[in-house]
Amino acid sequence: MQWSLYLLILMGQCCFFTCRQYEYHFTAENKSWSEAQRYCREKYTDLAKVFDMTDMSRLRNSTQNQGEAWIGLNNNTDGNRTWHWSLPGVEYIQNDSSWNQSGRTDKEKPGNCVRKRDKLADVSCNHTLWFICYDEMKKDNKTLHLIETFKNWTQAQNYCRYNYTDLASGLNQVDGEEMKALFAGRVMSVWVGLFRDSWRWSDGSDFSFRYWDMQLFNDKQSNKTCAMTLLNRSGNWSSDECDKEKPFFCYDDKMILIKENKTWEEALNYCENNYKRLVSITNPEVQGWVQETAKNADSPYVWIGLSYKCTLGLWLWVSDYVVCYEKWATEGKTEGCVMSVGVDRGGQHEWFSRRNNETYNFICSKQ
Ligand SMILES: *[C@@H]1O[C@H](CO)[C@@H](O)[C@H](O)[C@H]1NC(C)=O
Ligand SMILES: *[C@@H]1O[C@H](CO)[C@@H](O)[C@H](O)[C@H]1NC(C)=O
Ligand SMILES: *[C@@H]1O[C@H](CO)[C@@H](O)[C@H](O)[C@H]1NC(C)=O
Ligand SMILES: *[C@@H]1O[C@H](CO)[C@@H](O)[C@H](O)[C@H]1NC(C)=O
Ligand SMILES: *[C@@H]1O[C@H](CO)[C@@H](O)[C@H](O)[C@H]1NC(C)=O
Ligand SMILES: *[C@@H]1O[C@H](CO)[C@@H](O)[C@H](O)[C@H]1NC(C)=O
Ligand SMILES: *[C@@H]1O[C@H](CO)[C@@H](O)[C@H](O)[C@H]1NC(C)=O
Ligand SMILES: *[C@@H]1O[C@H](CO)[C@@H](O)[C@H](O)[C@H]1NC(C)=O
Ligand SMILES: *[C@@H]1O[C@H](CO)[C@@H](O)[C@H](O)[C@H]1NC(C)=O
Ligand SMILES: *[C@@H]1O[C@H](CO)[C@@H](O)[C@H](O)[C@H]1NC(C)=O
Ligand SMILES: *[C@@H]1O[C@H](CO)[C@@H](O)[C@H](O)[C@H]1NC(C)=O
Ligand SMILES: *[C@@H]1O[C@H](CO)[C@@H](O)[C@H](O)[C@H]1NC(C)=O
Repeated sequence: MQWSLYLLILMGQCCFFTCRQYEYHFTAENKSWSEAQRYCREKYTDLAKVFDMTDMSRLRNSTQNQGEAWIGLNNNTDGNRTWHWSLPGVEYIQNDSSWNQSGRTDKEKPGNCVRKRDKLADVSCNHTLWFICYDEMKKDNKTLHLIETFKNWTQAQNYCRYNYTDLASGLNQVDGEEMKALFAGRVMSVWVGLFRDSWRWSDGSDFSFRYWDMQLFNDKQSNKTCAMTLLNRSGNWSSDECDKEKPFFCYDDKMILIKENKTWEEALNYCENNYKRLVSITNPEVQGWVQETAKNADSPYVWIGLSYKCTLGLWLWVSDYVVCYEKWATEGKTEGCVMSVGVDRGGQHEWFSRRNNETYNFICSKQ
């Protein structure tokens, strides 16, 4: 066993792209959005939700169809808008000290996109401003880049997603030291990756990813409250009246939250006996989906299938994969023989080392 583990590690088993804990299913039958939702909840988990561009690519790859199809996003919210960070996986947590809503200049109209001056304020998305991109690869040793070109919010987001990772997202980036250095005492207004809308996912998830077709989608058509993907237009999204009948995408969750408090070993056994094993998080998409699951826990952390192997001196997934993707909390990582990983139920859902004998809810994987 030890020897084969060693071999796996030497081979650098990583599972970055292929492993996922959910599947998309395309159904060619024509149904209204609510009938489609009922069908998906019966046969699978729910209508499809999409975490990021990789998910979108998977969704498209799950069918040859080239028409329109419902996805699980709708605007039946009476116009109740919620804030989202543009970068997938960053939770929006209200902090009044970052905002100055009354600090808009005379030229600025209130709106659904956010610019930073000394503080944040919401302004109309069609203003054109300089903007701050976030680069996860840290090319040039910097995570934040000031782009000194005037663009509206959507164009700025496209620019950052194409040339870097995304618009600057999360208060750590937006209020951090690197941002202060970019401002260097200047007074200027720049876009950051914060927007709000009234669209919600069918299963209640907070996913911020939007893929609207800017030519076809008009945010004022208030009787078109259900979202569809246009498979012949690169999968871009538009909206339509919900009683129209169309094919649709469902998703099937391969992980399940067990709302019982168990030690890590007990959780491990429970999953192996009833499902497959404790869940492994091998890429940002799976982390994103785990985050939504962890929110429903009733313990402060949820166990996942990562623990410290003393004999090897490293962290290893129960699926035998080495750690390629990680989301440790600052100072959350403590190595020790009786340590495993709990995902924070709240905050940014980061990883914390916890003693194996502590008892938490946990997430099993069915495959
Ligand atoms: C669904 O409706 C479209 C257009 O109304 C039609 O072309 C298609 O054949 C229908 N598909 C099925 C499976 O009935
Ligand atoms: C979807 O299919 C395309 C073309 O076959 C491929 O390049 C791409 O990697 C696939 N995407 C995913 C997420 O598997
Ligand atoms: C609007 O949405 C927020 C967050 O989802 C929720 O807390 C609030 O109760 C909603 N307000 C109304 C009026 O529905
Ligand atoms: C809000 O932000 C301030 C300053 O950045 C910080 O000191 C404070 O802890 C934050 N509050 C919460 C609830 O996160
Ligand atoms: C941003 O600019 C593009 C291109 O000029 C335009 O199509 C789009 O509608 C603008 N978006 C907003 C929110 O004004
Ligand atoms: C932005 O939208 C406002 C109304 O929402 C409009 O008056 C203004 O002309 C628009 N500006 C541009 C540049 O499109
Ligand atoms: C980035 O920083 C590292 C060490 O801090 C240095 O070795 C490297 O040359 C730097 N790269 C660039 C492009 O500045
Ligand atoms: C990427 O950056 C280049 C300039 O460095 C710019 O010309 C191009 O338009 C950007 N791409 C997008 C999609 O905005
Ligand atoms: C969503 O619904 C609200 C309230 O009905 C409406 O004001 C808004 O324009 C709608 N947005 C879209 C994109 O249809
Ligand atoms: C939706 O609104 C459009 C334009 O306002 C109108 O032509 C259409 O008949 C409306 N549809 C329904 C079902 O009310
Ligand atoms: C699990 O533990 C938490 C406290 O950590 C407690 O609030 C919750 O009720 C417990 N759940 C069960 C099912 O015992
Ligand atoms: C876990 O074990 C440590 C030492 O082995 C002990 O100090 C601690 O009290 C135990 N915690 C629980 C919740 O049993």
